[in-house]
Amino acid sequence: VKCIGILTSGGDAPGMNAAIRAVTRSAIYNGMAVKGIYRGFKGLITDEIAEFKTSNVSNIIQRGGTILKTARCDEFKTPEGRKQAYDKLKEHGIEALVAIGGDGTLTGARIFAQEFDLPVIGLPGTIDNDLYGTDVTIGYDTALNTIMECVDKIRDTATSHDRLFFVEVMGRDAGFLALNGAIASGAEAAIIPEISLEKDQLAEMIETGFRKSKNSSIVLVAESEVTGGAIGVAERVKKEYPQFDVRVSILGHLQRGGSPSAQDRILATRMGVAAIDALLDDQRNVMMGIQNDQIVYVPFSKAIKNDKPINRDLLNTLRVASI
Ligand code: F6P
Repeated sequence: VKCIGILTSGGDAPGMNAAIRAVTRSAIYNGMAVKGIYRGFKGLITDEIAEFKTSNVSNIIQRGGTILKTARCDEFKTPEGRKQAYDKLKEHGIEALVAIGGDGTLTGARIFAQEFDLPVIGLPGTIDNDLYGTDVTIGYDTALNTIMECVDKIRDTATSHDRLFFVEVMGRDAGFLALNGAIASGAEAAIIPEISLEKDQLAEMIETGFRKSKNSSIVLVAESEVTGGAIGVAERVKKEYPQFDVRVSILGHLQRGGSPSAQDRILATRMGVAAIDALLDDQRNVMMGIQNDQIVYVPFSKAIKNDKPINRDLLNTLRVASI
């Protein structure tokens, strides 16, 4: 491979810039040219492509967001759109593609790689941590730290007023941020989609007297139709348990911003370098993953088709630690 293209797509995540930097520098180190593709698959179709040198990725490891910008792209979901994208790659002499993003990005990358003869390497960039085959995704640790800092602040006011707070965190139908965010911030409980289908977490929480020994309580709720979100849960509490003074806080997109943590920078750099090693190793259509501190190659089909299970021991850890 003499020239690679690199793009970020879908929701941004802290650490994407560190990944862009590592992929670019590793490719150049190995004698390849690099083309930066702006705005994900959208920019590939509309030809927003520029040559990247090592200086293009200077001074970005500490920055949140993505210097390549990102977009969600409907055209790329059609065969015509993907054909246009492939033609642009050919025009620019790009012989392999590195795509950084979450579930949607890797799904697109997988279909693209099946239709055209082009090696595609994926990097898991999402705060949701919902990709199978990797212990963690790029951006997850930073988002967890952000949630922890926010909940620490909410606790001050919750305690002063003896209030019950429902704090909604992101996760797109996955409970990793809510569950580990709750453990890290000393919250009393987490309501997560993986468990919502099995039992009524709110009723259980209240029945077990989760608030007996405390003046205030904080419950993290994962955004999702299944959990009802923080607003849905709070409305139920107001109706069924009017004795509580309830408030809601939705953390929203601030969870996606900020300077990446050391963990995310290191993870992104390791995965970025590994992506080029994978290409040199004749790998194609795999996502870089990390398992027990070792980089692994995860076929796209596995990374996106399987639901990543939450570690159920953590539910018990939270229950015990919050009595
Ligand atoms: O996938 C990342 C994520 O932040 C999810 O947690 C959330 O559901 C979604 O993206 C929000 O997307 P948007 O930025 O398009 O509103």
